[in-house]
Amino acid sequence: MGARLFVKRDDALSFGLGGNKVRKLMLETRAALDEHADTLITCGGIQSNHCRATAAAAARLGMHCYLVLDGEPPPHPTGNLFLDQLFGAEIVYVSSRAERRPRMDELAAELRAKGRRPYVIPLGASTPLGALALARAVGELPAQGIAPDFIVVATSSGGTQAGLIAGCALYGLPTRVIGISADDPADTVRSKVAGILTGLESLLELEPGTLQSSHLEVDDAFVGEGYGLASAASRQAQLLAARKEALVTEHWYTAKALAGLVARAKSGAFLDNQTVVFWHTGGVPAIFV
Ligand SMILES: Cc1ncc(COP(=O)(O)O)c(C=O)c1O
Repeated sequence: MGARLFVKRDDALSFGLGGNKVRKLMLETRAALDEHADTLITCGGIQSNHCRATAAAAARLGMHCYLVLDGEPPPHPTGNLFLDQLFGAEIVYVSSRAERRPRMDELAAELRAKGRRPYVIPLGASTPLGALALARAVGELPAQGIAPDFIVVATSSGGTQAGLIAGCALYGLPTRVIGISADDPADTVRSKVAGILTGLESLLELEPGTLQSSHLEVDDAFVGEGYGLASAASRQAQLLAARKEALVTEHWYTAKALAGLVARAKSGAFLDNQTVVFWHTGGVPAIFV
């Protein structure tokens, strides 16, 4: 006996090699089209799944795409960067994370001056609108007869976790949503999630505080040596998922989140008859880096 474990396979969303960002971009690109935008601009790290999904969306919608990435151009683009180029995005490199937002704004101003209509999508599409897509996605669980006690998910810019928390509240699920940080300290991620929840409350015209949770759960104990770097726990979780279920995870996000889930299972945090959902957020292209 033990808890029942389900995996929500956002990695298997068929568009542009999938992932949580595809959901967020469905709503963000709708907003871009409503504004008659002809260009999407966004930013991230060199292996950003969000940037790859944005490049895919731009290609499909016949829009131009600029990606502001921090780091050095590698001699041989691999993984998501390879796909960014395959989808036809223009890559603009900056040397630090701090330069990404100002460079996006500069690019947007340059394009506007040339008569183009750019639409800037913030880091990770972690806007209230992007998060709303995850809130809606929660509705797929009760539709499949699943009312989880826990959802475990990788968290970083916070939109996914905020959306899942909001979705559980809106669908009346008693679920604890546990975010396993990919990089930042727990407090930083918690305040990002809380800010997006506030934005969602105003987007949905709800009373302030309706979606806030007093136990906003973010665990930063699985970051290991840092963002994107394998840890002993993420290696073990990756092997377990691959060899038991042929489920692919990577060391930026999903193997670390799975490591957080495995540690909880081993420590008896999940009781018999409880239901746990591992929300697989995708990111599979990064395994080919
Ligand atoms: C595969 C994957 N999982 C999880 C996340 C975290 O999602 P969020 O940025 O919405 O917190 C991201 C994006 O950063 C991602 O690419």
